[in-house]
Amino acid sequence: MMRGGPLDVDRLREALRPPPGETPACIGTRLEHHTSLLSTNDHARALAASGAPEGTVVLAEEQTRGRGRGDRTWHSPAGLGLYLTAILRPPSPAAEAPLFGLLAAVAAAEALGRLAPAPVALHWPNDVMLQATGSGAGWRKVAGILTEARTSADSIRDLVIGIGVNVNQEGQDFPPSIAARATSLRLALGRSLDRTEVAAKILKALGSWYTLCLREGTGPVLGAYRGVALDLEGRRVRVAGSPEPWTGTTAGITQDGALRVIPDVGRPGTRGEAVAIRYGELLSVEGA
Ligand code: BTN
Repeated sequence: MMRGGPLDVDRLREALRPPPGETPACIGTRLEHHTSLLSTNDHARALAASGAPEGTVVLAEEQTRGRGRGDRTWHSPAGLGLYLTAILRPPSPAAEAPLFGLLAAVAAAEALGRLAPAPVALHWPNDVMLQATGSGAGWRKVAGILTEARTSADSIRDLVIGIGVNVNQEGQDFPPSIAARATSLRLALGRSLDRTEVAAKILKALGSWYTLCLREGTGPVLGAYRGVALDLEGRRVRVAGSPEPWTGTTAGITQDGALRVIPDVGRPGTRGEAVAIRYGELLSVEGA
């Protein structure tokens, strides 16, 4: 169901044009808008492989096979959410690829924080959460990010950053499997939003953070990330391990975006020092 009409790509292009005299942020210099795609990430990956310029952004009104992290699907009904993917080619080592997911999360949290009346924060690595009030009070997911990189030797060849935002969904628009954990900007504000404006804010923020990262390195992104993340310190977590999962307590993130976890006393082979874990290894966070 479409609420509020399709994206206005001309208006989006205009909103992304930098003011005279300012360096253009490279993101959104080329926009591709589709009525329906399997997945904007799949489409952008194919474009990237065939040489599409950095900053190309693919947008779709709906995705029929939208993908989330860890083989999950991303429910992408026509006209209710935002489904977009940007192609980047940072001159960075392959190990830094996950940092661009954190960068996108910081950008999305900043943009959505300007629109929503409620606090916005991040669950590691890049779930964007809104603090809901009333009957479903608590942190609920409003946006998700799926970053996929192609690397060669030790460097990034290209990177696609897919962002899905719940914009105009009502409670009943979410599948039962996620309804208790999801929210939308509409639910938070009590009115529909102009998806073109939301897309412009997100892409502008993404462009600014990317430009800053190219100029000053990853320090500012990590600093901002630490400021908005919910579970980096002192959270009880369960981690995949061999022969068995293990438990521990979070203790910050590494320079390349891995989560540091101090295993509980008694885990064989460790002496209280933190272990750096990647997304697929985190099984659960207590209370999340
Ligand atoms: C997650 O939280 O699991 C990540 C969700 C990412 C969804 C977006 S929607 C646009 C892009 N295309 C996809 O197929 N996935 C991402």
